[in-house]
Amino acid sequence: MRPTQAAYPAARFRRARQSPAIRGLVRENSFGVEDLIWPLFVRSGDAIEEPVPSMPGVMRRSVDKVVEAAIEAADLGIPAICLFPYTGIEERTEDCAGAWDPDNHANRAIRAIKAAVPQIAVMTDVALDTYNINGHDGFVENGEIVNDRTIEALVRMTLAQAEAGADIIGPSDMMDGRIGAMRGALEQAGHSNVMILSYAAKYASAFYGPFRDAVGASAALTGDKKTYQMDPANSDEALRLVERDLSEGADMVMVKPGMPYLDICRRVKDAFGAPTFAYQVSGEYAMIQAAAQHGWIDGDRVMMESLMAFKRAGCDGVLTYFAPAVARRLRDGG
Ligand code: PBG
Repeated sequence: MRPTQAAYPAARFRRARQSPAIRGLVRENSFGVEDLIWPLFVRSGDAIEEPVPSMPGVMRRSVDKVVEAAIEAADLGIPAICLFPYTGIEERTEDCAGAWDPDNHANRAIRAIKAAVPQIAVMTDVALDTYNINGHDGFVENGEIVNDRTIEALVRMTLAQAEAGADIIGPSDMMDGRIGAMRGALEQAGHSNVMILSYAAKYASAFYGPFRDAVGASAALTGDKKTYQMDPANSDEALRLVERDLSEGADMVMVKPGMPYLDICRRVKDAFGAPTFAYQVSGEYAMIQAAAQHGWIDGDRVMMESLMAFKRAGCDGVLTYFAPAVARRLRDGG
């Protein structure tokens, strides 16, 4: 008797999963070392590598040690690093003047890295939170975060970073109008090749907790950042922000945090087709590391799977504290 139509599945998707060779042939996305940006914390001092307790495996490094990390990154094929300064409470002021000091430790690190490994792209952080006595990304006047005066400071900070040799400026502050102001100032100062990767869709997120420990902002921060960072309930607003930042001269845009906001990554990529990055933030990193340390998940596999998810969601690359571990795994064929 001939089998009827219903006796076997019309489409056998499992045929395309039967072996590594076939799975490789039909794979839709790939994650490579060229997709990585490695965030690094830089502090004052010499020969210091100080662990960040809430981010197992992550260090605050003095400038000399950051240079060593940048060399390691370049050797692994990581195309870019991103520098965040750690500042103790005694280095913070109300006027945030340290932010545009050409000799602050972040700017010294940029110069030292560009001298030692010029091929690696150096991205910066533009925001006042790491210099501000109250931990906010903008100036605080009468309990409010003021927009336009903050922009003047961010522009000064940007120019100091570009002078130091930064390749990519990373405004993480969420003030309105800062991209246009920064782009204009860069052009006027002759830095027309310096790029801007705008933190365009940055949410007021509890996933930043460990980062605030890492940069010394937790103890300083008064209140929350909800008057400038986005409401996690919003999605259409992210598209309007990305459109605005691209029109003001951003070269690339970022969605932050990453994993809980993959829907936003996809919408942004579909709507604009611009270079789109996600920041797998400190809390995401800490969760994976904590569960792995308990033996509750296979940390390495979860790490790789989480990065593939960003590619599937349309991202061109990812800022992740896992960058060197991922690069090593990719190199060793993991
Ligand atoms: C602040 C800034 C934050 C992060 C990067 N830049 C924290 C915040 O907005 O409070 C978070 C990064 C992370 O959590 O890994 N300018």
